[in-house]
Amino acid sequence: MQPRSISHRIPIVVLISGRGSNLQAIIDQAKCDLPVEIRAVISNRPDVFGLERAHQAGIPTHVVDHRKFGDRSDFDEELMAVIDQYAPELVVLAGFMRILGNGFVAHYRGRMLNIHPSLLPSYRGLNTHQRALTDDDAVHGASVHFVTNELDGGPVIIQAPVPILPGDDVEKLSARVRKEEHVIYPLVIRWFAEGRLRLTGNKVIMDGRTLTAPINYAEIIHERQASQ
Ligand code: GAR
Repeated sequence: MQPRSISHRIPIVVLISGRGSNLQAIIDQAKCDLPVEIRAVISNRPDVFGLERAHQAGIPTHVVDHRKFGDRSDFDEELMAVIDQYAPELVVLAGFMRILGNGFVAHYRGRMLNIHPSLLPSYRGLNTHQRALTDDDAVHGASVHFVTNELDGGPVIIQAPVPILPGDDVEKLSARVRKEEHVIYPLVIRWFAEGRLRLTGNKVIMDGRTLTAPINYAEIIHERQASQ
């Protein structure tokens, strides 16, 4: 696959459930040189701050309130219909806290990303920061992965390790993890938009090569510093 020209902005739709700090990081970079056009922001919850962030950026918003659907598949279908009217090339889950059904996931396979606050496969699911603290881990972090049917189990593209420091609590640790998320998520979205990243079967292809392990963001930083 030929890398796309940098001037080509791909249409994306961002799904949120809350504060939207990752959404903000994407909005901020899209105002500079991230080659995406955020066509819509969709939340499954009304009155979340992420919707306000989208309004302030002039991005169309929708609420598809999961509580209004008796059936999970009805919710998925409505969400799909709302997303597809924007014809996104990429669907970005940014703190979207609903489990999506197999049909939904299959529909967006290879063009849906998620960010998760742990070094996957450790700590899938909820309360990841507390679980890492309880286990006395030395290192925690965040992962970006393609979404597949396995919850938080899709092929991982990049991970940012975050050391756990003496005196850390959930608030301090999650704030440091989020800071890394705001860097690695736009970076992965850029790679996808530039045509450098894709999913083939269950394999992540980056710059034409199959990843045998997730990219370690700490190594990217190290290499950049060494070359300066
Ligand atoms: C982020 O830490 C993200 O990794 C996590 O929700 C937070 C959303 O923050 N996502 C998940 O836990 C998904 N399983 P934000 O609303 O400020 O971007």
